[in-house]
This record gives sequence, structure tokens and C-alpha cells, in this order.
Amino acid sequence: MEKMKALVFHGVNDIRVDEVPRPRAGVGEAVIRITLTTICGTDLHILRGEYPVNPGLIIGHEPVGVIEELGPGVTGFKAGDRALVGAITPCGQCRACLSGQLSQCGRGEGYEAIGGWRFGNTINGAQAEYLLVPNAQANLAKIPDELSDEQVVLLADIASTGFSGAESGGVRIGDAVVVFAQGPIGLCATAGAKLMGASLIIGVDSDETRLAMSRKLGADVALNHLEVDVVKEVKRLTGGGADVAIEALGLQDTFENALRSLRPGGVLSSLGVYSGKLQVPYDAFAAGIGDYRIVTTLCPGGKERMRRLMEVVKGRRVDFTPLLTHTFSLDEIKEGYRVFGERIDGALKVAIKP
Ligand SMILES: NC(=O)c1ccc[n+]([C@@H]2O[C@H](COP(=O)([O-])OP(=O)(O)OC[C@H]3O[C@@H](n4cnc5c(N)ncnc54)[C@H](O)[C@@H]3O)[C@@H](O)[C@H]2O)c1
Ligand SMILES: [Zn+2]
Ligand SMILES: [Zn+2]
Repeated sequence: MEKMKALVFHGVNDIRVDEVPRPRAGVGEAVIRITLTTICGTDLHILRGEYPVNPGLIIGHEPVGVIEELGPGVTGFKAGDRALVGAITPCGQCRACLSGQLSQCGRGEGYEAIGGWRFGNTINGAQAEYLLVPNAQANLAKIPDELSDEQVVLLADIASTGFSGAESGGVRIGDAVVVFAQGPIGLCATAGAKLMGASLIIGVDSDETRLAMSRKLGADVALNHLEVDVVKEVKRLTGGGADVAIEALGLQDTFENALRSLRPGGVLSSLGVYSGKLQVPYDAFAAGIGDYRIVTTLCPGGKERMRRLMEVVKGRRVDFTPLLTHTFSLDEIKEGYRVFGERIDGALKVAIKP
């Protein structure tokens, strides 16, 4: 049996680069040779035991590669094609998928919450030399020749997620938008708000490097939440409250501040992953009759989403390569986790080249 190198989760705070069997493509599947991937904040949650996955799983969900093998039934692609695959791999055939809710894919049947997120969650992921892509027909997206791996790798997850914060929030031309947290996801939400025509964008964080990047990606104002009363300042800057507030962290504090920053009838678009209980104080949403809307979104995936995002980059509407601050080989990936996790040297996203 052929082997490959991969990062395997063995238990809390125990990840190792192991030799494991190389996957083979079955019916409807594909194998890609990974040429570039990265580490997500969610992988840190997995490593720290905050999001449980089974020991023995290869983690990572942001794959860029070259098609190595196509299983029977996958058409329109050939070995050697470069492909981007979303972090979310919908089946394309279930009720959820055919109703347009690809991220809540029921894998052939109805709906399943978070069912579309499989890589590095319920099946082997991308921090490896090779990756088995399920439902390949719905998930392989050819990379245009003019785009480099570095230009597309962040589209698999963080850009798709960040943009969706602005899209689900229904940002309109002329809107005032505030984005709580300017980590990779929040930064992409800021870029998304700009693309959708917001005329005032306020980025909130406390990390000066990230606040500077926030301005670079579209924020007109960058607020340090440790230095100013953000809610008060947003109300002042917007003349009464933002049209859309995007939550990109997953804490009670940021969720509540996002809600309090809105004008009546505004939209709270939530991207954060929460734990425990999340409370909505009655005064923050006018006792339930202030016409507020709260929407949540899981990263959109599938080949059409990836195609669209690559068009955005190809059309030079946005460039996320400045977010790739460091590069490591697969052998050095544990150091990559450390640099990314501890935000050493201004780390935002680390590129991993198997
Ligand atoms: N919805 C989805 O599909 C999806 C996908 C991926 C990740 N996520 C979630 O999105 C969230 C953000 O991910 P990330 O990788 O960008 O996170 P990150 O940890 O890299 O960044 C978080 C940022 O929040 C800032 N911060 C801390 N406290 C703050 C506060 N009180 N106010 C404002 N900013 C504050 C930090 O300085 C940091 O820059 C996480 O909850 C993650 O699990 C959601
Ligand atoms: Zn992720
Ligand atoms: Zn489906």
C-alpha cells in the first residue's frame, strides 16, 4: 500500500506528522495532490480540545492541489488539472443542497446541521500530501491559469466565510457596517462589506497589526475596543447605529456589542462559533419589537462558490495574499501551529507547502 505524510490528530495538544495510507478515489471521488494549504483558527480549537474530533483524523480543510486520480463518474476534469476545493463539501443532491443550503448538507438525504463541513471534521482533511475529495463532481473547482496557489488558498474557507457575513447581512450600497473582531474571518468580512458597497466600514479589534490590515482591506475607521467605548463610538459615527453589524469572534461580549451597535431594524450577521449559553438582553433589541434581524452563516462551499470567489480575485477586486504572513513545509507544520496560534511575529495566516 502506498504511503503519504499527513498531520494526524492523536488527542488534545497532540498532533504528529505520520506516515499513513495514501487515499484512492472510489466512485464519484477524486484524489488531489496538495500543493498548498493553511491552518484555520478552528484547527486550533481542535488541537486544544475545544472542538472534538476523533483521534486518528487528518485535520485541515483548506485544500489547493492538482488532480491525481478521478474515480468513476467524475466528468469534465482530468488528472493534472489544478483544483481548489472549498472547506465545505456539499453532496449537491440532498434536500438541503437542492434548496440552496449547501452548508447544511444532509449527504444524500434531508438536512444536517453543519453537515457540509466534512474535511478535518468527520473525514480526513487537507494537511497532507494527498486528499480524498468526496462528491468530487460538486466540489472540484478548476483554478484559472493566471491565478497562483497563494491567491486562491484563502478562498476555501476564510474569504468565503467572511464574505458571507456581509452577504447574509444584506449589505447595501451606502450602508454603515461594523465588524467585530479583525482576525482572518473578520478581515475578510471587512473586505466583503467593501465589495458590497458599504460607504462606512468600522473594524473593531485590539491588535494593532490587525487594525492596520483592517484599514488596508477596506475599513474607514479601525477601533481598539480596549481604548474606546465601541458601541457609543459606532452610534456617533453612524448617526444612530450601523445598518449591519458582523460578529466574527463568537463571544457574548462581541455578540451583544454588535446588537447594541445597530440602528432599529438593523441586521446582526453572526459568523462566530459560540460555546455555552448565548444571551440576548431585552434592552439591546427593543424587547423583541425593534425589527432587528439576527442571521447566522456557515462558510459556503461547493465548486460554484469557489468559481465565483476566484473570479473576484481574477478581476482584481480583492487581494488576500498579504494575509499569508508565513510559510512552512508539512514537516514543519507543528511550528506553523505554534506561530499561528501564538500570533508570533504578526502571524495572520500561515501557508503550508507539503
Ligand atoms: N461561520 C463559519 O463558517 C466560520 C468559519 C471559520 C471560523 N469561524 C469562527 O469565526 C471566529 C473568528 O475566527 P478567526 O480565525 O478570525 O479568529 P482569531 O482568533 O484569529 O481572531 C480573533 C480576533 O478577535 C480579536 N478580539 C478578541 N477579543 C475581542 C473583542 N472583545 N472585541 C473585538 N475583537 C476582539 C483578537 O484580537 C483577534 O484578532 C471564530 O469563532 C471561528 O471559530 C466561523
Ligand atoms: Zn476553517
Ligand atoms: Zn447535500
